[in-house]
Amino acid sequence: MDFDPQPLEKVPRHVAIIMDGNGRWAQERGLSRIEGHKEGAQSVRAALRAAKQAGIEFLTVYAFSTENWKRPPQEIDGLMKLLISSLNAYEQELHENKIRLRVMGQLERLPLPVRARIQKAIDATAAYTGHTFIIALSYGSRTEIAEAAKRITEKVQSGELKTEDIDEQAISDHLYLPDVPDPELMIRTSGELRLSNFLLWQLSYSEFYVTDTYWPDFREEQFFKALEAYNLRDRRYGAVKKK
Ligand code: IPE
Ligand code: IPE
Ligand code: MG
Repeated sequence: MDFDPQPLEKVPRHVAIIMDGNGRWAQERGLSRIEGHKEGAQSVRAALRAAKQAGIEFLTVYAFSTENWKRPPQEIDGLMKLLISSLNAYEQELHENKIRLRVMGQLERLPLPVRARIQKAIDATAAYTGHTFIIALSYGSRTEIAEAAKRITEKVQSGELKTEDIDEQAISDHLYLPDVPDPELMIRTSGELRLSNFLLWQLSYSEFYVTDTYWPDFREEQFFKALEAYNLRDRRYGAVKKK
């Protein structure tokens, strides 16, 4: 790394990223969209390293949304292939750094070889406890919440859960990864000011950091800049600021 990150007073336990702008990055260079995604994959690697260095326990990246299934088949196919080749290239690094891989989303919609490859990496890293890397894949937050509602209803019908016990914690407990704490910080690259169906429930009180930088240009230095900005935030949770 060719820069010196400042020591941070507050380190978030969980950082979530909407990795956006791969297409525009490529277009500005006269490259194909998939070239942008490939360069973006290098930024994922940079984010993983930076998160580890900063002492962040959970890093979640939004890699493919339920809405992204609307993209041209050629781009979807390229993204799926890139996922497999990235896992082939980086799995070793997960082991070296003892990082556990997890995924969240409608995985049944993914092509079988992709699911199998991911499952292999999930199983191989399952015992690591210090750092977790979560890929939101074929992920949509409204679907996640609807599926939680379905499971809660089934439990009420079977008598496992009482209606009066359905509270905020019960909803959280039925989301895809109930044991993962909510992100303190959400980063979105490429300047878009929207959530695009990402972690609607979990981001209720998170700090948002939006940068115009396209995802392929978002590397360690930009990651630490986001953490520094987070350190200047005043989190009040609806209360009056303490003097
Ligand atoms: C983000 O980059 C990656 C995915 C959504 C898979 P985009 O592909 O959305 O890039 P832009 O927004 O078109 O620039
Ligand atoms: C959000 O980016 C999804 C991912 C980063 C995977 P999009 O590019 O799909 O979002 P919109 O279309 O700008 O809302
Ligand atoms: Mg986009």
